[in-house]
Amino acid sequence: MTRHIPVLLKETIENLNLKKGDIFLDATLGEGGHSFEICKKLDGDIKIIGIEADIDAIEKAKEKFLTDKYIKNSDFVFVEENFRNLDKVLDNLKIENVDGVLFDLGVRSGNFEESNRGFTFQKDEPLLMTFSKKAESVPFTAEEIINEWEEKNIKDVLYGYGEEIFAKQIAKNIVLKRKIKPIKTTFELIEIISSSVLEKYKNRKIHFATKTFQALRIAVNDEVGALKGGIKKAFDRVKKGGRIVVISFHSIEDRVVKIFFKEKALEKKGILITKKPITPSAEEISQNPRSRSGKLRIIQKI
Ligand SMILES: C[S@@+](CC[C@H](N)C(=O)[O-])C[C@H]1O[C@@H](n2cnc3c(N)ncnc32)[C@H](O)[C@@H]1O
Repeated sequence: MTRHIPVLLKETIENLNLKKGDIFLDATLGEGGHSFEICKKLDGDIKIIGIEADIDAIEKAKEKFLTDKYIKNSDFVFVEENFRNLDKVLDNLKIENVDGVLFDLGVRSGNFEESNRGFTFQKDEPLLMTFSKKAESVPFTAEEIINEWEEKNIKDVLYGYGEEIFAKQIAKNIVLKRKIKPIKTTFELIEIISSSVLEKYKNRKIHFATKTFQALRIAVNDEVGALKGGIKKAFDRVKKGGRIVVISFHSIEDRVVKIFFKEKALEKKGILITKKPITPSAEEISQNPRSRSGKLRIIQKI
């Protein structure tokens, strides 16, 4: 079982610019990689509120914090929730404002390796793709999209969220296959994708099912909607002078962040700390290939 390696760690810590005694909201706690290093850097003298949709990730984060002799007595609270509800989390904790917020978006390594929810094309798993273990946390799972949605809507998801050039053929074949029997697992879906794309598409570095899987995951978790809602609430709750750092892993998310930050800068409510996103160094990419598409943007509230 491998641990998730935090992406752009040094750059995140530097740019959050937190001080001893601050309150930090980690909107995507994951296994606590970023939060842990921030806590360590400030000798545990910081309050950390970690929000995470996936209880398994929270358990790992807790274990990391509670087994470290310096960190275990620090002030942290981890909440199983969607970050689109971060206002409610802060209200429940009676916290008005925070000094910094981090969104490290997308998936953690454990989602691929051990979630059994269909994020990976290496294993035959049920097609759920929910970040939360509770399937009822989302209006529909990947299985429901594939077996119940109209062909055109499936195509639009695959093209819109995955920029999959074979979206039309894949959607058509999904609809043909499901008439014979419901499509239930990752391997069944991969077989359909395989029969829908050109042979040369299968010889590329990136697996031919990557874009379809990414698109379904984004749709199931309403990742764009959650980000738009979450980032707005984060901006409302960060103190003047406080910063929001966002690490995104695909262009749709990065565009949402870029547009929102620009809007705030134009309204003279924020200063863009980065005009262009910070990206991982060649060294980081070689040590952690998952980091390669990471883009980090920062805004400071004024
Ligand atoms: C890239 S990982 C974060 C890793 C973390 N920074 C670390 O170093 O361990 C992203 C995490 O965000 C969670 N997540 C994604 N969207 C979420 C949302 N809308 N609300 C709450 N958690 C979310 C995922 O379950 C995943 O664990």
